Amino acid sequence: MSRIPLIAGNWKMYKTGPQAVETARELARLCSDVQGVEVMIAPTFLSLPLVAASVKGTCIKTGAQNLYFEKQGAFTGEISADMIKAAGAQYVIIGHSERRQYFAETDAFVCRKIKAAVEVGLKPILCVGETEGQRDEEKTFSILDKQVSDGLKGFGRDELKDLVIAYEPVWAIGTGKTAGIEQVHEVHQYLRSLLETLFSRDFADQTRLLYGGSVKPENAKELMGIKDVDGALVGGASLDANQFINIIRYNI
Ligand code: 13P
Repeated sequence: MSRIPLIAGNWKMYKTGPQAVETARELARLCSDVQGVEVMIAPTFLSLPLVAASVKGTCIKTGAQNLYFEKQGAFTGEISADMIKAAGAQYVIIGHSERRQYFAETDAFVCRKIKAAVEVGLKPILCVGETEGQRDEEKTFSILDKQVSDGLKGFGRDELKDLVIAYEPVWAIGTGKTAGIEQVHEVHQYLRSLLETLFSRDFADQTRLLYGGSVKPENAKELMGIKDVDGALVGGASLDANQFINIIRYNI
């Protein structure tokens, strides 16, 4: 089963609309001859329609960084899956550790968000990962098990055909520390076998597993070469088109 690598940029709360469009256009220019890799950028909600319009017809896809699971209603400040889809996005990042940490997102919330995404045909990128304390206490696998099992509770495998899972150890995000090759490998292998247990062998084989946490041009090739790593979710290094392109071209 061949899984096309996905290199995704999470722009977090950076860039105004014009700045986001400028970077997106520059990236589209730099990416024009890239093959065999899918590229996605996730700007802020405000920039999303502008960025999606500016990369339309190029190889760059777009995504949102979050959504709210209700379809519409009196939910001040929230954005629905339909609205994201209408903005031109194909993907949505769900359950990022910053949302779990600062906005108290639970696995049950994450699950409802994934449901809302797949209902409108948005491809969900479910983020999972342990904190440093949890790793020290040897709880990494039980934490991941809970985040994946509870996040995907009640789904049939057909509903999740476009699911992507991003393993982002919390201690490696924005810190310059990357997980070691062996650490990444054992987690990705674990996630793949967990998907097999929860769904099926085929499902596990087709689902892309990204690594995230201080991915840079200097370490991208090594990280992407690890078995069961099917791409990257990149924060800081995706903000600059010249840096990000060197991650996208990790194979060259
Ligand atoms: P950094 O690449 O800045 O460590 O961020 C990773 C991340 O959180 C992507 O979602």
